[in-house]
Amino acid sequence: MDRVIEPELMDDDAQARAYSEASFAVPHERFVDLLVERFGFPSGRALDLGCGPADVTARLARRCPELAIDGVDGSAAMLRYGRERIAAAGLAARVTLTQALLPRDPAPHTHYDVVVSNSLLHHLHDPSVLWAAVGQLAAPGARVFIMDLMRPESAAAVARLVHEHARGEPELLRRDFEASLFAAFTPTEIEAQLAEAGLGTLRLDVVSDRHLTVSGRL
Ligand SMILES: C[S@@+](CC[C@H](N)C(=O)[O-])C[C@H]1O[C@@H](n2cnc3c(N)ncnc32)[C@H](O)[C@@H]1O
Repeated sequence: MDRVIEPELMDDDAQARAYSEASFAVPHERFVDLLVERFGFPSGRALDLGCGPADVTARLARRCPELAIDGVDGSAAMLRYGRERIAAAGLAARVTLTQALLPRDPAPHTHYDVVVSNSLLHHLHDPSVLWAAVGQLAAPGARVFIMDLMRPESAAAVARLVHEHARGEPELLRRDFEASLFAAFTPTEIEAQLAEAGLGTLRLDVVSDRHLTVSGRL
């Protein structure tokens, strides 16, 4: 099944609010669990690319108290919810959120010790934007941990996953999830992107019926 792109930015307020209020506790905790399994509890400066409403960012900050995290996202609406979440969690001293559209705008720093991203890749019309950002912003030896959706083989498989994982969710979120599955890349496509970007040392793992991770040290 061919990829069907979706809009890059989630800058509609209703969409951002629905996404921010959705219960992503299970996949987002799993993101942090898998990162900790892979790298322990890293310290230093971290970058979260496409941080959205900063739920993953906040969970990572709580679990890794020695990390200072910059979250960047192109959507002002998402960042509004993200800043509320970070302030409410008492994490504002260690977590800074900045509006930045990739690849146009710079990140707050360079030479990050840790670069993470959850569910940005499938939004990008040109996936090389993510891999170029990783290559440019990660310090030598940095830890990289990316998680995203995988595109299923057929529309019927998409429908099955939406039914299984988003049955009770609001219609807006179910439509978002469906569009994201159609927009996602296959493991084979991502392996080719990594080779093309000179990031072939990163390892791709399929970690659920719909998620994969790309991780390693640069
Ligand atoms: C599905 S959300 C994921 C948010 C967050 N990482 C999470 O896991 O909850 C994807 C995010 O990527 C952002 N995004 C998409 N394309 C972008 C780009 N070119 N530059 C910066 N942010 C982008 C969107 O605005 C959205 O907030």
